[in-house]
Amino acid sequence: MELLHYHNGQLLADNVAISELANQYGTPLYVYSANHITQQFRAYQDSLKDKQHLICYSVKTNSNLSVLNLLAKLGAGFDIVSQGELERVLKAGGDPKKIVFSGVAKSIVEIKRALEVGIKCFNVESESELYRINQIAQQLGKIAAISLRINPDVDAKTHPYISTGLRENKFGISYQLALDVYRKAACLSHIKIAGIDCHIGSQLTELSPFLDATDRILALVDKLKAENIHLEHIDLGGGLGVCYDNETPPSASLLTAELMAKLTNYADLEIIFEPGRSIIANAGILITKVEYTKHQDGNHFAIVDAGMNDLIRPALYKAWMRVLPVKEPTSSDKKECYNVVGPICESSDVLAYQRELSVAQDDLLVICSAGAYGFSMASNYNSHPRPAEIMIEGGNRHKLIRKRETFDDLWRGELVL
Ligand code: LLP
Repeated sequence: MELLHYHNGQLLADNVAISELANQYGTPLYVYSANHITQQFRAYQDSLKDKQHLICYSVKTNSNLSVLNLLAKLGAGFDIVSQGELERVLKAGGDPKKIVFSGVAKSIVEIKRALEVGIKCFNVESESELYRINQIAQQLGKIAAISLRINPDVDAKTHPYISTGLRENKFGISYQLALDVYRKAACLSHIKIAGIDCHIGSQLTELSPFLDATDRILALVDKLKAENIHLEHIDLGGGLGVCYDNETPPSASLLTAELMAKLTNYADLEIIFEPGRSIIANAGILITKVEYTKHQDGNHFAIVDAGMNDLIRPALYKAWMRVLPVKEPTSSDKKECYNVVGPICESSDVLAYQRELSVAQDDLLVICSAGAYGFSMASNYNSHPRPAEIMIEGGNRHKLIRKRETFDDLWRGELVL
């Protein structure tokens, strides 16, 4: 079911009027639907039910404790990239034995903590990281389970900033070096080789890069087997795209079915995915209020109270995100072509360019598909407190899951000379 629809001239999220949420909690406001998140997560789970699997939700996408707790209860594992994310997962009731730890710069402290709590696996991104993990595991008297994150050198055909599987990207271990690093790992006393991993990029709207990467990874699995290095799991990362505008990405079930078909001869391998965006992007919105409209020199601006500090995707990637008025448009409305801009003192603080809208001061607008990489990338730039977050449960109950920041929050930890 789609999250948003008009009813009696008003935009609803699930069965809740957006205007009611804005009145009660203020704007800007992030809103998520538990039903929608559940439905997206189950799509992965259901399509993999005949295969040993673990869906490790990518925490960076949206790391609110309520989101993590909801997913933990559905049986999710978690893909983390920092100790902060690890602590969030633990705080939210996630099972450490279902955590995989990615990221190119894992510190000594982070590795120690991950070993102490007993995570499932480190996705190792360099040879030096491998040695560091071995050394720390030795000091702690533990064995560290690892997989190597392989950079399969395939073109994910997505925005260059969110493409990670090309030779020139900083991520993972080069395909050419992979065998050699596995051989070295096999000789380390406190390392257990558990798997193999790749993640080639985000917002992928075609199947072919996933299929190509999987072929390359499986070719390595075969070579490892021939050298008596046996793996327990294969982690194919995240990256499945969503529809922001008119993209037609494959569904989670089509993606997993196509990949499972390649894995029929690897029945003993557990399959891991690390989805983020496809779980939560379209389960979330950002509600914003029009503070002013400005019409000058042939330009029409809808100046809203949310900015690049709240939602940086349009400014950072020129990402297109749908903007919907909360009052349903009628055919008699006089429309103009607006740039929807925020309060931040940067010309790039534009949430949406050239949208046909009919807006007036104090109107509410919704930025769609804002559940992924929205709040998690928000900042206090220009000293704006970060927005509140709300979860809709069961289609009609709404709960505050993060308070709006206060001015005290802005300078917490700061000291005056
Ligand atoms: N696994 C790893 C190792 C990752 O680096 C990522 C995302 C994921 C999984 C989840 O990918 P997803 O399923 O969400 O595509 N901020 C950008 C996206 C950056 C993605 C970073 N890595 C955006 O707003 O488009």
